[in-house]
Formats: sequence, structure tokens, C-alpha cells
Amino acid sequence: CICSSFSSLNADIRAKCLGNIMRVDVGPLGGNNTAIVVTPSIAAQCGFSMKSDSFGNALIYISLQNCFAQNVDDELFTTALQLRLQGNQFSQEEVYQVAETCQYDVWASREVICDYNYMEVSELRSSCPLVSDMQKRSMDAGFKATTIVFFTPEGKKPMSLLAAQQRGYGIGNTPTRLVLRSPMIAPETFMQTIMGVPMRIFKTSTIFEKKWLATQIDAAAACPIQEGNTITWYLPWQMDPMTSSGQFNLLEVHFGINGQKLDAVEMQAREYSVALNDFYIVTELPIGGVGGYYESHIQGDLYYVSYMIEPMLELLWTEDATHEQTRYKVFFHITTHLLPQPLELIDNTVPGEKMFRMTLGHFAADVALMNITFPAEVLSMPDCSARGFNILEHMSPNTSLKVFTLQVPFADPAVLQQTGEGVTVYSLHLTFGLLILDQLVSFSHKAYLEAVVQDIVPPSVSGGCDNHNFYVLVKYGSPGYNFQTMVGKRYMTPSLAQHYDSMENGTHFSFVVPFSAPDVAIEASSTRSRLDIVLSNPETNSQIQELSVACNFPSTLTECFPNGTMTALALKLESVPLLNPSQLTLADPSCGPVHSDDRYAFFVFTVNSCGTTRKFMTNVMLYENEISLPDELLMKKSPTSEEPEYYLKISCFYDINTSQTVAFNTRLRRSEPYAENSKGQLQVVMRLALDDSYSAFQNYEEYPLAKYLQQPLYFEVELLKSANPLISLELENCWATQGKDRTSQPRWDLIINGCPNPADPYQVVFHPVWTDARVGYPSHFKRFEIQTFAFADGKDDMSTKLFVHCDIVICDSKNPLGGICGGQCSNPKQTTKGEMDDFSFGVLQHSGDLICLRKD
Ligand SMILES: *[C@@H]1O[C@H](CO)[C@@H](O)[C@H](O)[C@H]1NC(C)=O
Ligand SMILES: *[C@@H]1O[C@H](CO)[C@@H](O)[C@H](O)[C@H]1NC(C)=O
Ligand SMILES: *[C@@H]1O[C@H](CO)[C@@H](O)[C@H](O)[C@H]1NC(C)=O
Ligand SMILES: *[C@@H]1O[C@H](CO)[C@@H](O)[C@H](O)[C@H]1NC(C)=O
Ligand SMILES: *[C@@H]1O[C@H](CO)[C@@H](O)[C@H](O)[C@H]1NC(C)=O
Ligand SMILES: *[C@@H]1O[C@H](CO)[C@@H](O)[C@H](O)[C@H]1NC(C)=O
Repeated sequence: CICSSFSSLNADIRAKCLGNIMRVDVGPLGGNNTAIVVTPSIAAQCGFSMKSDSFGNALIYISLQNCFAQNVDDELFTTALQLRLQGNQFSQEEVYQVAETCQYDVWASREVICDYNYMEVSELRSSCPLVSDMQKRSMDAGFKATTIVFFTPEGKKPMSLLAAQQRGYGIGNTPTRLVLRSPMIAPETFMQTIMGVPMRIFKTSTIFEKKWLATQIDAAAACPIQEGNTITWYLPWQMDPMTSSGQFNLLEVHFGINGQKLDAVEMQAREYSVALNDFYIVTELPIGGVGGYYESHIQGDLYYVSYMIEPMLELLWTEDATHEQTRYKVFFHITTHLLPQPLELIDNTVPGEKMFRMTLGHFAADVALMNITFPAEVLSMPDCSARGFNILEHMSPNTSLKVFTLQVPFADPAVLQQTGEGVTVYSLHLTFGLLILDQLVSFSHKAYLEAVVQDIVPPSVSGGCDNHNFYVLVKYGSPGYNFQTMVGKRYMTPSLAQHYDSMENGTHFSFVVPFSAPDVAIEASSTRSRLDIVLSNPETNSQIQELSVACNFPSTLTECFPNGTMTALALKLESVPLLNPSQLTLADPSCGPVHSDDRYAFFVFTVNSCGTTRKFMTNVMLYENEISLPDELLMKKSPTSEEPEYYLKISCFYDINTSQTVAFNTRLRRSEPYAENSKGQLQVVMRLALDDSYSAFQNYEEYPLAKYLQQPLYFEVELLKSANPLISLELENCWATQGKDRTSQPRWDLIINGCPNPADPYQVVFHPVWTDARVGYPSHFKRFEIQTFAFADGKDDMSTKLFVHCDIVICDSKNPLGGICGGQCSNPKQTTKGEMDDFSFGVLQHSGDLICLRKD
């Protein structure tokens, strides 16, 4: 095929010769509402058909033997077209000239074209059965077609050529051929089902006359007609109306799309298949496949598409009897029924991106998005671009349908915002204004989008404590809010969490830290413990929240026992991080802790040891000691060390009345030694009993008493005003003097160091004391008996006075400490501690036989 083509300036118009037809492509016209005005009846009559492809471009199919072709010897066919493109409101009408010459010289005896709007049959005139063989040549010269006879189911219908042309039939005479053309739906055509396939039949006889001679040419075409959404196309390949004998050979079968033949590889790639069975050529075409296209329709506000494709079959057969060849070409325009294509807005929004993303589809290629209506305004496409909505068109893969995508930032004024309950709800109402370009039909689609964004809430921590533990509750923040938890100076690890009995329930986690845990800091007062919790961002390490829980440590650091033992627990303070507790000592540096580790030192000592000092206060005794680093260790420290020294003062109060103990601790700076200055008072009484029953006593007023020599004197010494059963009164020394002064001479010892004077001829007799109505605590009493005597060197006085004195010791019976307190008469030489008082009694020797005593 030798083709020449001309295209005008603006539109891309190309003509193509495709065997016995030519095709003119006019494009691209997609964006503009462009229509080519071709009168349908002229098209059908003259061999034109016009279609648009999936991009809206026009395809004009033109039979080479069309009414307007310039035919040179049935080999070169030139067709000139004037295309009038109707512009839209913005453009003016444009006129294009197209002319194309196609060469075609392989004419079969009969050529049939089935297009969607016409059937064409072209017969070689020389091959027509002639009235007589010898007139064969002369037919070319002078025969003229006069009448056309249509064969219909109702019978023969003859018609003059002129009348037939007026009814829309095309009749052409070329040098060698007769061309008949019928619109697809013409009154003289009829439906016939051939092997189950509906076909339109056009069957004629054309009468040629020349003077008295007449001849006729039969011409028939059978074309499949489109049937809804049939996408399996059955074409019978034995079409009786077109064959004179029944026997013929099918030589070639070609398949094509839009008039263009495809080879096997292309067909497979496009998933087309053509198969031949006993009766049919079966063509299978996938709906939506390449080569076809969709068209939009609006019916009752709903969106539909129909799929269109135009397969072509070209067959070549020979009739056995005549050896005549028939080339048969069918364009089968398939349009499916309307397929509902519900519009769908797919919300692809990822709230974190702060932008609505959506996809609207699916549409045929002939739909344009014109504008978007928001509650407050209507935006055209340029407006939307200016607002950054980024509207794009995408061809959907393997469906030949397209979608629109767009984005609307949450910050755009068209987006509504509502906040509350920890979330922000973004919503967008929009109505898409759409237009079907070819038909200028408007339609719209409403959509509503909503995105809920959790407000970013940081994690938080709270806590408290009881007598034993710190309790910490951490509340997670918004999902995805990462944080790390630091307990004291350590990061919370899974193993530490397990150690602290961590529990987790999806929104919170909690853990329990004992007071004794190493992550707990002891504040300087050492009775307050503090737990620090820090939540921080793991990437930036920036602090999110800090919590310090401080509670008084209720456990006893110092204990005071009634037996005079003190214990003290010295804890390492956070302010003295380098302290080694094992190096701590009491005031006496030789008294170290009984046990210690890196966090504490534990001391046990008695109040009378380790440098403990004692103070007397009203009704209480205060024992104090201190825990610190020994001086030699302090000396070793660098002088620039800022570390405060460790100094813990410990004290015990002993209530004198009740022996209850109170313990407290104070921490003071090093202070001057306390000057001890105290005075005790004990009331002790010594009396003379009337007899050894010790039930009645001499009255004070009766002194001095008169006694005879060797008359027994029953003495009793009592500690008054003490209810303490644990103390005892012991007699250390007792002696007699002549004078009132206890140190005067002469003197006679009665009891020495608790024991009777061994030199005494009439030794002191001790009487035991038993509990009775008067005696509550026998240990508070001592009783002894002596015999009245007189000093030998006494003058011959009518009356000699005798004074008796005693030193007494008050002992702690639980802590006797030996000496007098260890028991009467145990170790005569040992001196003892104890309060001492003396009592003087006068003994009056009257006439040598009367002794008078009185209290001094
Ligand atoms: C529509 O026609 C106008 C005027 O001829 C032209 O400027 C414009 O580019 C056309 N649009 C498309 C999509 O072809
Ligand atoms: C599109 O084609 C691919 C590959 O041929 C196939 O896997 C996919 O299922 C097709 N999608 C649809 C919607 O037909
Ligand atoms: C929006 O586009 C639609 C479809 O073309 C049209 O019918 C409607 O009038 C347009 N609205 C405005 C306000 O321009
Ligand atoms: C998790 O524990 C916390 C604290 O006990 C409680 O307030 C919260 O309701 C619990 N959450 C769930 C989902 O059980
Ligand atoms: C003092 O009493 C405490 C507590 O009862 C006891 O542990 C300690 O051994 C006693 N000390 C002496 C020296 O008896
Ligand atoms: C201790 O004795 C004094 C003097 O007898 C008295 O005033 C005080 O109330 C007593 N204290 C107690 C706690 O019994």
C-alpha cells in the first residue's frame, strides 16, 4: 500500500490505507469537546463510519470505493475529506482538508465489508454470470444498471437505482466492479440467525441493460450485528447467501482491532483469541482489554460505563466450483450494556500526615473533573491547584478506567476541626463537579471524610509510700509516645522491672521499691528517704517528667534497751557518696560497727562505754554518742574536698521514774563538748526499832534515848521514795563516835565494807528483811543489831552520848558491778560507786546504864 498523507497545522490528522478501506485518525481531540459532523445516512450510503477511541480521538473508516473516491483503474483510490471540527465555547470552528490515495490491486471476485453502520459488497463485474459468454467483453462497454431487486423474506422487491439511492442505498459502478452498499438497518435488509448468531442479510440482484440486452449481478452480504455486551463473537464461516455453490475453502483468517490486523504474538499479549470450530469463528475479547475503551453514561443520577471495542475479522475463501475468491472483512462494533460503575471515594488518609488523601473513581476517560464545592465556596481546578490540593489523574492498571487523586491539608480553611476528649476530629465535606466531555453532561459526587487524631499526651508518673515501700504508677502517653524510665540513677530494664514487681495493664505500669533498695536516696536528716523517677525521651534524652517521692523512714535507727545497751544504724547519705560505712566509729575510735556493708554500719554498745556521755535532766537521763569518721581518715582527704564529713549524733533518754526509753536522733554539726554537771538526791532514813520485829520505831521526839549497857539496839536503814525493785541499798561502813561530828575521835567501827568489824567483841548481827505491809521492796532495807556500849576512855560523866553513822551504797541489782553491790561482806577492800550519805546518832550513857539516841 503506497500512501501519502497530508495533515493540517493544528490537529494531528493522519490517514492510513488498510486494504480495501482507509482510516483517517483525527486527534488529539480528547480535552476539547470536539465533534465531527458526518451525516449518518450519507456515511452509511457512501462507506464512511466514524468512531472515537478510548482517548476521545476520532477514527474515520472509509471504504476505498466510497461515493467520493477518485478511482484510477480500480487500483488507485484518492479520497479528499473536509473535516469540520466544532470547537467548544473557547475556540472557533476549524476546517481541515485531508486527502489520501490508497493503492489496492488484490481485489477478490467479491469483497464484503461489514461495518457497524453499513454493509458493502463489491463484485467483479467481469466475473458476473453473463447472459451469454460471448457478450462477456461487451458488458464492460455499454451495459448500464437500471434496476435493483432486493430479496426479502416477504419476496422480491425491485426498485430503480434512483429510488434505491433515495432510500439510502449506495450503488457504484467502477471499471470492473459493482459496488452495493446498504445501511445496516435498512428496510430491505432482514435478520437471519445463522448457526445461532443473529446476522443482517442484504441480498440483491442488479439488472444491467444495454438496448435489448439485459444481464444481472447477484450481490449479497451477511453481517453480524451487535448484541448487547456480547464479548464472545461467533461468526459463522459458511455463509450460504454469499456462496453460489455450497462448497468452498477457507484460505485465510485474520483478526484485527480498529481495522488493523494483529499477529499471533500481539493477540496473545492483548489476550484476544480466535478459534475455528465446525461452524464458527469464535473470537474472545476480555472486557476492558487493550484496544477497547469505556464511555460514560448518567442515568438517574447514577454513573454507568459501557465498554466498546471493534474487532475485525478478514476471511478469504474460494468456491470449489467457480474458483472464485471471496475476501470478507467484518468490523464488529461491540458495545456492552450499561455497566453500573458506582463511584467510590477511597479515603487513604494517614492522620499523622495531617492531610486528607483520597482517590475518586473509577471513571471512563471521557470524564473531566471541573470543580469542587466546599460548604463555603466552589473551587475550580486552577483554584484547587493554587490551594495545594495536588489533583492528579491516574489510569487504573488493566481496567482502562481512571481515578482522580487529591490531597487536602488539615490546615486548609475548608477542613473543619473539632477538639475534645483528648482527640481532634478533622472533617471535610466536598462535592465533586464532573463533566462527560463528549456529551456535555454534568454530574456530581458528594463525599464526607473524617480523621480522628489523638492529642499528643505525654506519659506521666505519680507515686507515694507507706511504712515499707515506695509505690510508683506510670501512665503511658499517646500511642507511640516513647519514653524511658529512670529509677534513682538506673534505667528501668526488664530485669529491674521484674525485681520491683512491675505490673502492666496496657495503659499503666506500676512498681514497688522498698525503702532499703539501692535506688533510694537517704536525705541528710537520715530519717527521710527519697525516690527519684525521671521519664525521658530515649532519642533526645530530654526530660518529660520528674517525680521525687520523699517519706520519713519509720524504722528505728537507734534503739535504747532498759539494760543500758544502745544500738545505732548509720546509713550512707546521698550527700556523702564516697563514704565507706565500715570506717565509721563511735566517739571512741576503737568502737567500730559490728557489721556493715556499702550502705550502712550497725553499732552495738553499752551506755557506759565507747565514749558515751551522760546528762541529767528533769526526770530523764540523756546518754549521747556520735558516729563519724575517725580523725586520721579525715586527715587523709584532700583539703579541697568539698565532701561534707559524716557526723551522726545518737542519743538515748532514760526516764528516771519509769525506766521507759525514748530514742531519737539528731544530726548536728560538730559542737563543743558538753560540760556535765549534775546533782542527785536520794532520801534514806535510819531508825531504831523497838524490838527485833521491826514493826514499831522510836519517835524522833524521844531522842536522845537512854539505854543500858549491852541492851540490844535494832537499827533499820531504808531507801525512801523509790519503787524500783532493781536497785538495792547496801551498808558500806557503819561506825560510832562520841561526838556529833562523824569524823570525830574516838570512833569504833561497827561495819567495815559491808562486813561486821572482826575486832568487835560484840559483833553486829544482820537481820533479813521480808516483804510485809510496810516493806514493799526488801532490797531497799537493811537491818542490823548491836549491843549498847560505852567508850572505855569516857570520863565519869553521868551521861555519855553515842552517835552511830553509816555510809550506804545504792546498787543496780541487774548490773551489780562487784564490790559492796556484789553482796554483803564479799570484798572488804573494794570501793564502789554509789550515792553516799551519813547518819549520826547520839548514844547517851546515863549513869552507865542508859543510852540516849537521837537523830543528828
Ligand atoms: C482545547 O482547545 C483549545 C483551543 O483550540 C486549545 O488551546 C486547547 O489546548 C485544547 N485543549 C486540549 C486538551 O486539547
Ligand atoms: C491487573 O493485572 C495484574 C497482572 O496481570 C493482575 O495480577 C491483577 O489481578 C489485575 N487487577 C485487576 C483489578 O484485574
Ligand atoms: C461545577 O462543575 C459542574 C460540572 O461541570 C457544573 O455543572 C457546575 O455548574 C459547576 N459549578 C460551578 C459553581 O461552577
Ligand atoms: C490500669 O491500671 C490503672 C491503675 O491501677 C487503672 O487506673 C486503669 O484503669 C487500668 N487500666 C485498665 C485498662 O485496666
Ligand atoms: C540488753 O537487752 C537487749 C534487748 O533485750 C539484748 O539484746 C542485749 O543482749 C542485752 N545486753 C546485755 C549486756 O545483757
Ligand atoms: C516522776 O517523778 C516526779 C517527782 O515525783 C513526778 O513529778 C513526775 O510526774 C514523775 N514522772 C512520771 C513520768 O511518772
